[in-house]
Amino acid sequence: MDLSRLPLDEIAAKTGTPFFLYDGTELDLRMAEIARLTAGTGLQARYALKANPAAKVLERARAAGLWIDAVSGNEVLRAKRAGFAMGHEPPVVMLTCDVFRDNGRDVVVEEGVLPNIGSPGQIRDLAEAGYRGPIALRVNPGFGHGHVQACDTGGPSSKHGIWHEDLAPVIGAAGDAGLEIVGLHAHVGTGPQIGEFEANMRQLGDVFGALLPQFPRVQGVNFGGGIPHPYRPGAPRIDLGPYAGFLGDAQRMLSETAGRQIRVEVEPGRYPVAGMALLVARVTDVKTTRSNSKGPGHTFVMVDAGFNDLIRPAMYGSYHHISIVGKGAGREPEPLVVAGPLCESGDVFTRDDQELLDPRPLPRPEPGDLLVLHDAGAYGAAMGSNYVSLGRAAQVFWENGQATLISRPETFEDIVRLECEERL
Ligand SMILES: Cc1ncc(COP(=O)(O)O)c(C=O)c1O
Repeated sequence: MDLSRLPLDEIAAKTGTPFFLYDGTELDLRMAEIARLTAGTGLQARYALKANPAAKVLERARAAGLWIDAVSGNEVLRAKRAGFAMGHEPPVVMLTCDVFRDNGRDVVVEEGVLPNIGSPGQIRDLAEAGYRGPIALRVNPGFGHGHVQACDTGGPSSKHGIWHEDLAPVIGAAGDAGLEIVGLHAHVGTGPQIGEFEANMRQLGDVFGALLPQFPRVQGVNFGGGIPHPYRPGAPRIDLGPYAGFLGDAQRMLSETAGRQIRVEVEPGRYPVAGMALLVARVTDVKTTRSNSKGPGHTFVMVDAGFNDLIRPAMYGSYHHISIVGKGAGREPEPLVVAGPLCESGDVFTRDDQELLDPRPLPRPEPGDLLVLHDAGAYGAAMGSNYVSLGRAAQVFWENGQATLISRPETFEDIVRLECEERL
């Protein structure tokens, strides 16, 4: 994002720091790309709203014609609030989870959205709740790879879905419970390389082709999300053209195998939203440690954003590009570690996937400068918390030269609102 055209200081003066800034133009561009990816006959995209559930984002997903993949009852209700149709004809909203929690089951029963079963026991859960509608099955196809090991989405060490060789008893249980299986689903993740994503998708097509004959009522087959976003400067953006071609071929192949039209779905979360957002923090200090027998010294840039705002670097060692806005911006880069306000020493934005400090060549900022973390739109605010009672950061939507506050900074009153003392 071109920072020079953004009034970051002005916004910071109004909302305080840190804040997320969402670029509406970039969001629309990526949503339109996903819509084009599935413009062919029998194709449909869902937006995996876990990546960023802001009402504005949902509004744009709906305008682009996407459907929704939700993970909780409340995500379904967020989709409903944003105007997505409930019910399952067609199944505009699908609830994919391995565990029903809170209102998950009740929302399926009350709203009639399509439950995508990720664990065999959920058939029992739904039957107990009195649900008698259609279901989809999330299959663990035995392979797959997230962008890091912690996001292992397929294979023996993945907790997701039903093992592909153990579907027969689940088909039986669904039949006994009066639940018709209308969808098959797998989400096997991105893989560290673009080539790996494409290979995973091809392999998944074969798996679905082999499974379909056992599922005479299936209408839709879902290839999950996982479209990679280029976080590093210069990293190639995936060309979605070949993927669109693959999806079209898969739709024809699966329809032929089944002897009826099969809808082929994808459900990216990260891709449409990652690049639209900046997380803007204030530099509060620059300090150093010195080398000794334990290791080398470092220069730490202290900022007021932490892993409570953007957890990906602390959790996965994920890379987010960093820019400095202010007095230090033009300086010769030097290796700097960027760290936040939390009490964990891992509250560092420049870490590698071995959880080690990874000093970044950056211009040395002055206290008071702004430090911008790029590509913070996916799994940023969505995974934010109020750990150590720091309020969640404001979210600001930027469009047509106008900034709009779409989620205000969380206050002390917000944070303590749920506390109570009720006899049970
Ligand atoms: C079932 C399912 N679908 C889709 C997604 C979205 O994945 P991504 O953000 O990599 O596109 C996820 C991510 O966790 C998922 O678990």
